[in-house]
Amino acid sequence: MNAPQIAVYPGSFDPLHNGHLDIIKRCCPLFDEVIVAVLGNQTKDALFSVAERVGIIRSEIDDLEACRVEGFSGLLVDFMDREGARIIVRGLRAVSDFEYEFQMALMNRRLNSRVETVFLVPKDEYIYLSSRLVKEVYFLGGDLEGLVGATALERLAKKGQEAEKVDPRGG
Ligand code: PNS
Repeated sequence: MNAPQIAVYPGSFDPLHNGHLDIIKRCCPLFDEVIVAVLGNQTKDALFSVAERVGIIRSEIDDLEACRVEGFSGLLVDFMDREGARIIVRGLRAVSDFEYEFQMALMNRRLNSRVETVFLVPKDEYIYLSSRLVKEVYFLGGDLEGLVGATALERLAKKGQEAEKVDPRGG
């Protein structure tokens, strides 16, 4: 019997948006199991902790069979070895993503030659979407209807309230 094909969809997910969710839903039918892997390295200024990001994702993928979410730190390929996974899934939105993705795919393959990266393209209505823009638009009062899930919106609101408590002038 062939070993189950386990794919890892890694990212910062700070927070998960509907473009990410679209990729998760697209890759689930393609593999036996999909692990959404949330980067915990402290190299980036994240708004949400790893536990918060994992919680947001968990609430959105609740109904997806054979899909789970884990935090990881260190090298992605080491996490994959521990999970018995050989496939990395990444979303490609535009040509501007390509160079960064190309570098990562080649570096990961150099680090572990058994690892392959596959790219999926999200629904066109999410092609411009990024977690950075989600945070910016939210904190400037813009409408995110249809772009992020209910849990992410609720957690963004909580962060806004926490920030107001620290500085009531919102500065
Ligand atoms: O959503 P992002 O921030 O573009 O995701 C980047 C991520 C998490 C996939 C990448 O930074 C990563 O895999 N980091 C783990 C550290 C690692 O393995 N680095 C070497 C591979 S290039």
